[in-house]
Order: sequence, then C-alpha cells, then structure tokens
Amino acid sequence: MVDLLTLNTDTLRHMQKHLFLKYEEFRQKRLKLNMSRGKPCPEQLDLSSGLFEGLDRNHLAEDGTDCRNYGGLGGLPEARRLFGELLEVQPEEIIIHGNSSLALMHDLIARALLFGVDGQHAPWGRHPVKFLCPSPGYDRHFAICQFFNIEMVTVPLLDDGPDMDFVEELVAKDETIKGIWCVPKHSNPTGITYSDQVVTRLARMKTQAPDFRIFWDNAYAWHDFTAAPVPLKNILTACKEANHPDRVYIFSSTSKITYAGAGLAMVASSRQNINRLTKQMAIQTIGPNKLNQLAHVRFFKTAHNVRLHMQKHAAFIRPKFDLVLNLLETELGTQKIATWSRPQGGYFISFNTMPGCAKKVVQMAADAGVELTKAGATFPYGIDPLDQNIRIAPTYPPLAELKTAMELFIVCVQLVSIEKILSEREGKTAELTVLPEDKAQIV
Ligand SMILES: Cc1ncc(COP(=O)(O)O)c(C=O)c1O
Repeated sequence: MVDLLTLNTDTLRHMQKHLFLKYEEFRQKRLKLNMSRGKPCPEQLDLSSGLFEGLDRNHLAEDGTDCRNYGGLGGLPEARRLFGELLEVQPEEIIIHGNSSLALMHDLIARALLFGVDGQHAPWGRHPVKFLCPSPGYDRHFAICQFFNIEMVTVPLLDDGPDMDFVEELVAKDETIKGIWCVPKHSNPTGITYSDQVVTRLARMKTQAPDFRIFWDNAYAWHDFTAAPVPLKNILTACKEANHPDRVYIFSSTSKITYAGAGLAMVASSRQNINRLTKQMAIQTIGPNKLNQLAHVRFFKTAHNVRLHMQKHAAFIRPKFDLVLNLLETELGTQKIATWSRPQGGYFISFNTMPGCAKKVVQMAADAGVELTKAGATFPYGIDPLDQNIRIAPTYPPLAELKTAMELFIVCVQLVSIEKILSEREGKTAELTVLPEDKAQIV
C-alpha cells in the first residue's frame, strides 16, 4: 500500500472498484456487529464469578453493621478504605455509593445548579453556566451538560491532557465557567493520560469563578494493559498543595472491574466537600447497597488483589487492541488517509479520518451491519467541527467478529477517502456514489 494522495486518478478508480466489490461482499454477509459502546465482554464479567459468594457467610460489616438494613450513607468503612487506598485518598475523603459514577456526576451537577457547591456562593443555576469540554471526549459528559442547559466550550485535548494555555486563559477571565470535564487516565476516547505538569496547572490555575470545580472522571484508573501501571499525579493532593483543596471531585467505579451493571461507584474529594455531599445525599436516600460493598470487599480483600484482577482483564482486552492496531497498521499504515491512537489502557481507540469523512464511514459501516459510535459523539453537541473523529470500542466483540468488523471498517475508510480525493481533484464536494459500472459488476 502507498500514500493514496500520490496515486493517479486511474489507479484510484481501479482501487475504488475493487473496494466496492469487497464492500458488497461484506453486505451480503448480513453482519450484525456492534462496536458502539465500551462494554466488558462476557469473559471479563466471568472473572468476577463468585463475587456474591462472600455474602453467604454473613451480612455483618467489620463494625457490626448489618448490611441488609438501612443506613451507612458514606459507604462501609472497609469499602472506603479499600477504594480510598486505590484512589490514593483517605477513607474520610471518599463516598462509596450506588453502581454508577455517571449518576453521581449527574446528581452532583444537579445539586450544584440548585444549591451551589460550597454554601457560600450562589447556586450555579441562577446565572448562565459554562463547562470546559476537552475533546474528543466522553459523549455522556456532554449529554449531562446539554440536559442541564450548561453551555459547552470545546477545548483541544492534546497528548498530555487539555490544552492548558487555552484553559488557563478562559477560566481566568470568565466567571460563568464553573467546571471542566477530565478523563485523566486512558481517556475516553483518545487513551491519553494527563502529565504531571497538566495536573499541577489544573490544580493551581487562577479561576475567575471562586466556586470552579474539576470533574475528574477517573473511570480507567486501574485499566492498564501492562503490569506496570501508567502513573497519574494525585490531583486531590495537588489541589491541597495549591491551596484549592475543594476544587476537585474525583469519580470512579468498578463497572469495568467487576460488573458494569452491578458494581460500586465512588466520589472522592476534600473532607469538607465529602461532608457536604453526605448531608445532601441523606435527603435522597437512607443508604446505599451495602451488601454489594461487602461482597466487593470480601471478594478482593486488598488493593493489590484488585490490581491483579485488572491484569486478568488486560489479558482479554490487550489481544483485541493488538488486533485492531495491527490491522490498521497493515492496511492503512502507509496510505496517509487516517491517524489513530495507540493506548496503553482503557477501552477505546480514537480514529481520525480525512476531514469530512467520519459520518460517511460510520454510515457505510452501519449499512453493512457494523454499528460504531455515532460520528460527532466525541464532541460537544455531537458536532465534530472537522467530521473526522470515530471512537473504536474493541472490548466487547469476540476476536473473530472484531476482525470482520475492522476489515469492513477499513474498506469503508478507504472507499470514503478515495471518493473524497477524487471529488477534490474534480473540484466537487465529496459525495459517495456507486458508479453504474460497479453496480453492474456487483449484482
Ligand atoms: C469516562 C467514563 N466515565 C464514566 C463511564 C460510566 O461509568 P459508570 O458505569 O460508573 O456510570 C464510562 C463508561 O464508558 C466512561 O467511559
């Protein structure tokens, strides 16, 4: 394969015909494959078989709490200790609650809009609110903002985190910017991890809003492909050192450690923030599912065991990422029509087509039976200004299906790119069409 841009028009047209035939072969297979969401595969879920067996013994927590009954709002002491250790915060600085960290983020923002975040400043919702959204980013963060009518400001996500020059400039002058979304480790979807310098700058930066908050969604905190974890600087400590102890809320969950529908979610922050949150949550509920917390603590026992468990996950996930990356490299490596990330952990590969091609690629793949995340989803309001980013989620399908899906995806990328190159040469806007003679050959 060679750089497609250097090929003459006849050669490109020849390739195009050949690719259309391949594409049609895929369509005939009537595939029904889904790579749209980052879900653990069944084998990963099986790693936690036996999770609830620990409950057969008894239902008492270490302090004698009967976990079948009401109460225990902040979470069981042993669960706060275990996950506090993993997130490098004190047990008093973490709440274990429910099964979804996304729900914790959603509710925290709802409360901030209604009541403010610190009891000193006005509820956010009294005035227009903006959030910084490093992009490509996580579509469900953006959906929360859109739902609550929070204006999203796109910030470029670089290889070491958000573009901090841009972030610092914006937050220093605009009091309506109340927060920033961050997926600091193995980010969704680009897979990057924030550098120490970026963490320090986020903690230290001067914000015009005195009640500015960082929403630190550390969903992939322990999801490394290698035994040696990719390091991430402790943001809570950095905020304390920078004299902004209350600036950050850290979120995580065991959705991709044990069960995505029945794990534990957690939020960590300064003691002051945690105390305030606990009081507010007491209005919402009498207590979380402590049986699930007890099951998790008994299943893992130690933070070290959680890390070992994550290596077992990696053993399933890594070959899938390798397969995708090898196919991309072999088929597209020299064609100069796309770039992609090579993550060291997490759940996603971020793929960039030539500008203006992503929507068409996703549509073509869908028409042939492979569902990908909607193009644009990785940007605020679902609008990718360059229409080029596609999130690839390789974890769920079995290897054989993943291979087929990626082969089709690559054909779609090549077809749409060639169409674009040819249209640009002809001075037309790219429009994907099957040439009459190709159709004749296909049928
Ligand atoms: C960055 C990020 N945060 C949060 C979630 C969802 O977390 P939870 O299952 O704890 O609600 C996901 C799921 O894909 C994610 O990628």
